[in-house]
Amino acid sequence: MAEERYYKHDGVERFTHWTHVVDTILLILSGIQIHYPGFSIFGSMLTARFVHLVSGYLFLFLGILHVYFFFALGKYGIAMPAVSDLGEIGPVLRYYLFIDTTKPDYAKYNVLQKFAYAALFVVSFLQAVLGFALYWPVALAPVLSLFGGAVSVRIWHTTIMWVFLSFTAVHLYLVLSEDLRLTKAMWDGYYYRKIADKGGR
Ligand code: HEM
Ligand code: HEM
Repeated sequence: MAEERYYKHDGVERFTHWTHVVDTILLILSGIQIHYPGFSIFGSMLTARFVHLVSGYLFLFLGILHVYFFFALGKYGIAMPAVSDLGEIGPVLRYYLFIDTTKPDYAKYNVLQKFAYAALFVVSFLQAVLGFALYWPVALAPVLSLFGGAVSVRIWHTTIMWVFLSFTAVHLYLVLSEDLRLTKAMWDGYYYRKIADKGGR
């Protein structure tokens, strides 16, 4: 079947995606050094904490920017999971589990992507709140006590880091096993969709 090239990811999506990726890598590497001091990734602990804090502020800034554009540009209609999407779960799961070989038809993101991205947003928000509670233990004391104190918050914060790493592993497997042009589209914006042939002309 013939294909046509179309503009899939606008500049905001591509910018926030890749800056978030670099920033998340810095947060994970510095976070690992803070929690497991045996891993001297950035040399001194002071440097690791500095990197973590600067990338933590960037994480917050990018998060606010992303949410702003999500609503200002009406992206919620495309990426927010809805009850009407639920019927798509069966066919998409059958495709992911190799039961069906034909990819089901869906708009920009399939229902499982929508749920995964929404869950990642909630987890990111929680991670930022816990991170800032560790940074401002007095101002955010209620958050610390809600989660059982500073030691417990550090354990939560580290556990959530493992959630991020797990999401990233599955995400990478899914996008890279699909079609490498999908990743290229996240870089230059353009992807391809099938169109019906017009009688071979
Ligand atoms: C807004 C975002 C964030 C802020 C403000 C923040 C802040 C902090 C602070 C203040 C600490 C304690 C540092 C210390 O003890 O000197 C910390 C530790 C840590 N952070 Fe974050 N963080 C953020 C996001 C993240 C993310 C996204 C990850 C990983 C995906 C992460 C992973 C860790 C880990 C593993 C630790 C070590 C926990 C410990 O044993 O104390 N952080 N963070
Ligand atoms: C080198 C690593 C990565 C590659 C190659 C990659 C690739 C992609 C691709 C191709 C898409 C579009 C999927 C589609 O159109 O169906 C996408 C979307 C997305 N990715 Fe990644 N990704 C990477 C790392 C990450 C990481 C580390 C995170 C977060 C922890 C992440 C979060 C997301 C989210 C939330 C979306 C939804 C679109 C949006 O940004 O609004 N990605 N990624």
